[in-house]
Amino acid sequence: MMNNGATTDAAVLKDSTDSWLDEVAACSQLEQLEQLRVDLLGRKGRLTEQLKSLSTLPIDERRERGAALNQQRERLEVAIASRKQALQNAALAERLTNESIDLTLSPQPERQGRVHPISQTTAELLTIFRGLGFAIGEGSDVVDDWDNFGSLNFQPHHPARESQDSFFLQGRDANGLPTLLRTQTSSAQIKLMRQFGAPLAMVVPGKVYRQDSDATHSPMFHQLEGFVIDRGISFAHLKGCLQAVLTRFFGIPDLPMRFRPHYFPFTEPSAEVDIAWSRSKGRIDRDGDKWLEILGAGMIHPTVLRNGGIDPNEYQGFAFGMGLDRLTMLKYGIKDLRPFFEGDLRWLGHYGFSPFGGGS
Ligand code: PHE
Repeated sequence: MMNNGATTDAAVLKDSTDSWLDEVAACSQLEQLEQLRVDLLGRKGRLTEQLKSLSTLPIDERRERGAALNQQRERLEVAIASRKQALQNAALAERLTNESIDLTLSPQPERQGRVHPISQTTAELLTIFRGLGFAIGEGSDVVDDWDNFGSLNFQPHHPARESQDSFFLQGRDANGLPTLLRTQTSSAQIKLMRQFGAPLAMVVPGKVYRQDSDATHSPMFHQLEGFVIDRGISFAHLKGCLQAVLTRFFGIPDLPMRFRPHYFPFTEPSAEVDIAWSRSKGRIDRDGDKWLEILGAGMIHPTVLRNGGIDPNEYQGFAFGMGLDRLTMLKYGIKDLRPFFEGDLRWLGHYGFSPFGGGS
């Protein structure tokens, strides 16, 4: 620093301001710069102290030096502001590079959703039926007495109605008939026959409702209805179709199944289909000690065809209704039906299926 007595005041000032400007330029952090600003321009700052000391100078010297000091102050303020801007820009640029998100990374959700076992079974069966040329139809959960019983040849006071102790709703529909939650997907048959006519091969999956509740029964469960109507359809077609579908579904070539005579008002003759189950092995087994019922089936009753607008002298048909919950339990070795409807994520995590195919 040059210091040649009183005449060099301006030079001293210039020199010190230059070095202050160097100090500003040397700041590499915002906090450091702020510290320097306080140190120079703050209430007790170096430049401030010099401004304060003006009062001790003679009046003309004071004016000249005062003007010079204020000029230096302005230069410093500008330098500090521009340095601050530069440091902020640099900090932002650094954040932008370091915090950038790689949008090309595939998202990895923490918890992947699972396909419910019943949805899995439904999808598998629909795939099999589509392969056999079946169309997929839909019915309603709320139906009237005619759809669920009358059109299917249930007589008004026939005890067969009672086996399906049902959930009737209040009031009547537009036809003046009582309405209820369907007790069987067979309730979709008539409307679909009337809509599409013969020949027809169709499956209808859906929920059904009955007053029942224990380890193997729930008040709401799932069925898959199927019917084929064409000329010359016989019980052999029914048997061949069910055998082909179930063999494929279970993946067991020599599936042990039997047709057992039964009664349904809407099929004649009627049968229930059972598969052999081994209690000790806990799986389907040719030498099993138990027959488990998985579906009802039969040749469609002429009255039902007629109610569906189809001439029974020209067309014959077979129909079947499978219990999807029961099929799922058997295929995947699930012993209790109730967890199907409890929505427990731990259970679904274990028994659910990957949405992208592949095993459980
Ligand atoms: N609807 C019958 C039931 O729920 C099953 C069935 C469907 C039987 C079609 C014969 C034909 O038990």
